[in-house]
Amino acid sequence: MAQSDAAKGGSPAAEDAARAAEQGEERPPAPGIDITRPHVARMYDYYLGGKHNYAVDREAAEQALKLVPQGRIGARMNRWFLIETVRWLVREAGIRQILDIGSGLPTQQNVHEVAQAIDPNAKVVYVDNDPLVRVHAEALLATNPNTIFLTADLRDPNDLLNRPEIRSHLDFSQPIALLLVAVLHFIEDTQQAYDVVKVLCDALPSGSYLAISHGLIEEGQKEATQQASAVYRRANSGVYPRTREEILGFFTGLTPVGCGLVHISEWTPPGRPAGPTAGDNVVSLGDPAVLRSLPGMCGIARIDR
Ligand SMILES: C[S@@+](CC[C@H](N)C(=O)[O-])C[C@H]1O[C@@H](n2cnc3c(N)ncnc32)[C@H](O)[C@@H]1O
Repeated sequence: MAQSDAAKGGSPAAEDAARAAEQGEERPPAPGIDITRPHVARMYDYYLGGKHNYAVDREAAEQALKLVPQGRIGARMNRWFLIETVRWLVREAGIRQILDIGSGLPTQQNVHEVAQAIDPNAKVVYVDNDPLVRVHAEALLATNPNTIFLTADLRDPNDLLNRPEIRSHLDFSQPIALLLVAVLHFIEDTQQAYDVVKVLCDALPSGSYLAISHGLIEEGQKEATQQASAVYRRANSGVYPRTREEILGFFTGLTPVGCGLVHISEWTPPGRPAGPTAGDNVVSLGDPAVLRSLPGMCGIARIDR
């Protein structure tokens, strides 16, 4: 109550905090964090069992999970893809620079931790447009000179590429791995999404890599996927899964690596047998039928010129 009185006539963030407090929700961790509507970064954190989420995110995530009950395993499989991709890029492909756009909230085995466990000098640039991601990333990275975080919007790739921080942290004459993992489906217009990927890939030298994962809409599951997507209409971003053909379009002009861009249950790190193995601690071996029903595709491609 006292908090609510103090916030009256204050900033929108303070008013949000007061309203949330009156509703018995958690207080926002920093000014500018909106906890009155779901945020896609925080919903994903909830699917992964994280703690960086609020009642409004959990409620929306639970609604989506009612429609796509395999959502949690999908999120973990997506992390598995991301982690194995980074391991392969650094260990096998010699990559020492990573640009991770739509990086998400810190979780277990973050990209810089996976890369720098192999080479402590590997450079990582995280990019996200969510203010809570910025708060946590800055705290996590405060003492890591090889890793920086930038707030930027994937939909404006030229703005990102022109930032002095990215140019001083990454050497654009040397190969860079561009990670667009579970983020392209937040761009509504397919042509715009293709254009964004092209602008980014064109800025990278030959020998660079692109890794993507993307929400998939398949014939048999169209209705549930569309209903789950509708839950995201009241979030800070809508979600726009695409067909196989549309997703395959992201690799146009690139050289697919290993198994290429495939259904997530079929993906395998280059040079390894298909699917997660008992040694992978990110995702336990699930029911193959459930894995096959996941609405997602993923893959790695090389930029050859
Ligand atoms: C589902 S999470 C994926 C996190 C991480 N890449 C992973 O796969 O584990 C999607 C992230 O993309 C971010 N995002 C969504 N739209 C974005 C945009 N237009 N520009 C930058 N980041 C965006 C969200 O804030 C969120 O953190």
